[in-house]
Amino acid sequence: MLKGRHLVEPGNFSIEEMAGLFTLAEKIEADPLYLRESCRGKLLATLFFEPSTRTRLSFEAAMLRLGGACLGFAEPGSSSASKGESLADTIRTVSCYADAIVMRNPKEGAAMVASRYAEVPVVNGGDGGHHHPTQTLTDLLTIRRLRGHFDGLTVGFCGDLKFGRTVHSLAKALSRYTGIRLIFISPPELKVPDYITQGILKKAGTEYLETDHLEKVMGDLDVLYMTRVQRERFFNEEDYIRLKDSYILTTEKMKAARDDMIILHPLPRVNEIALEVDGDPRAAYFKQTKYGMYVRMALLSSLLGVV
Ligand code: NCD
Repeated sequence: MLKGRHLVEPGNFSIEEMAGLFTLAEKIEADPLYLRESCRGKLLATLFFEPSTRTRLSFEAAMLRLGGACLGFAEPGSSSASKGESLADTIRTVSCYADAIVMRNPKEGAAMVASRYAEVPVVNGGDGGHHHPTQTLTDLLTIRRLRGHFDGLTVGFCGDLKFGRTVHSLAKALSRYTGIRLIFISPPELKVPDYITQGILKKAGTEYLETDHLEKVMGDLDVLYMTRVQRERFFNEEDYIRLKDSYILTTEKMKAARDDMIILHPLPRVNEIALEVDGDPRAAYFKQTKYGMYVRMALLSSLLGVV
C-alpha cells in the first residue's frame, strides 16, 4: 500500500511496489481515461525552487488528467522562502492546503527534511545532485516497456555522472535487480561518486565498470543513458566549458550499437545527442517523456489512496 507514503529516494519503495506502479501505468497507457476522475477534489502542490519543464509539467498534467487540481510556484523568488522562511515552515503551511506535495530544491537532503514536517505525502522532484526518484520510475517503466525486463541487462550511463541525480537514483534502483551490469562512461572529473560504486553497488553485488571511452563499450549495451553536463552545479565556468562536449552521440557512433539497444535521456538535452540521432528507431527519449506522465499518474493515485 502506497497510500500516505513519501518518495524521497528510490529505496523508499520495494521492487514489488514499483512493479505495481508500472502495471498501473501500463493500464493508463492502454486506456488514458482509466482513473480519469479518481482525484476529483484533491490538490497537488508543486514547489519548484529550481527550474524544470518535464518534472513539474508532467506532474501537473498527471494530476489534471486524474481530475484533480494543482497549485504552487515555479519561481522561488515569488515564495516566502525569499523572505527567509524555513523549509520546515513552508512545508507545514502547504500541508494545510494540499493533499500531496512535489518539491524540487537545489539542496541535497531537502526532500528528506520536507518529509519530516509534512502532514501529506512528499515526492522528491530532485534535490541538488542527490536523487530524482520519479525520473527513475520513468526510466524503469521505459525500459520495461521497450525491453520487457530488467534482469540481466547491461546499462551504460554516459556524461556527467558526478552531478547527475537521475544517474544516482537509477543506478541505485537497478542494483536491486538480478544480473544487472552497469558501465559508467565519463571523463575522470565527472565520475560517479564513490558512495554509489563503493557503497551501494559493492554492497548489492552489482557488477560495474568505469571507463572514459564510449565507443569501446557501445556494442555491449542494452540501454545507453545519456546525460547533460550539469552546468549549474559547477564551481567555475572554465571547467564547464572544458567538459561540456566530452561526449556527443552521433549516427556514426550509433553504428557500433546493437540493433535492439535503446537510447534514454532524462532531458533537457544540450549538445550530447546530435539531432540526427532523433530519427534512429533506437532513440527512446521522447517516448520516455510520455511514460513519465503515465507513471506519475499511477504514483499520485496510489499515494492519495484512490486506487
Ligand atoms: C533532469 C533533472 O532535473 O535532474 N531533468 C529532468 O527532471 N527530466 C536532468 C537534467 O536536468 O539534466
